[in-house]
Amino acid sequence: MTDINSRYGLNPAHSEVIEASKTIQPCDALDMGCGTGRNALFLGQLGFNVVAIDSNPGAIQTLESIVEEEDITNIQAQVYDINEAAIQGDYGLIACTVTLMFLNPSRVDAVITDMQERTLAGGYNLIVCAMSTEAYPCPVNFPFVLKEGQLSKIYKGWELIKYNEELGTMHNGAQLQFATMLARKP
Ligand SMILES: C[S@@+](CC[C@H](N)C(=O)[O-])C[C@H]1O[C@@H](n2cnc3c(N)ncnc32)[C@H](O)[C@@H]1O
Repeated sequence: MTDINSRYGLNPAHSEVIEASKTIQPCDALDMGCGTGRNALFLGQLGFNVVAIDSNPGAIQTLESIVEEEDITNIQAQVYDINEAAIQGDYGLIACTVTLMFLNPSRVDAVITDMQERTLAGGYNLIVCAMSTEAYPCPVNFPFVLKEGQLSKIYKGWELIKYNEELGTMHNGAQLQFATMLARKP
């Protein structure tokens, strides 16, 4: 497969998106906080129909120009503020990697409820988000961080195909816990 991401100087897709794509058949997918589209482009190449949303118009413009240049017909990029919690359409996969922590904390519950409601039965949510715990207080001043066990509680009743709250090391050596979840809606 030609690697569009490297051709446009983008990083490879997030490792959890690559991993999830081995489990999930191509379907309608929503990439929340898509940035310049590393995950959307990867999923698009696998045959997913992707709606890619981000509040940064510059990032969306970059993705749109790649889509146009490559004659891609299965990726639609849109400027959208996730805090609105008003997703249009229903999806087999909603991915939100390293984005929840930039949202307005008072909107996160509504955003996740909206994600859950807009997921088709048997569909998937993929979330990767920074945490702050007693053992490892978050060293970065994100507007929002998850607490221990918080995400799995919100997804009670869904099948947790993957769930962990592992410790990672940032470029500057600081240690930070991340919640990683792939969940399937009943
Ligand atoms: C760290 S980047 C992650 C990008 C991508 N999900 C990935 O895995 O590479 C976070 C993205 O969230 C977007 N973002 C932050 N707040 C947002 C909001 N309220 N609505 C939509 N996008 C938002 C930023 O513009 C940025 O592109």
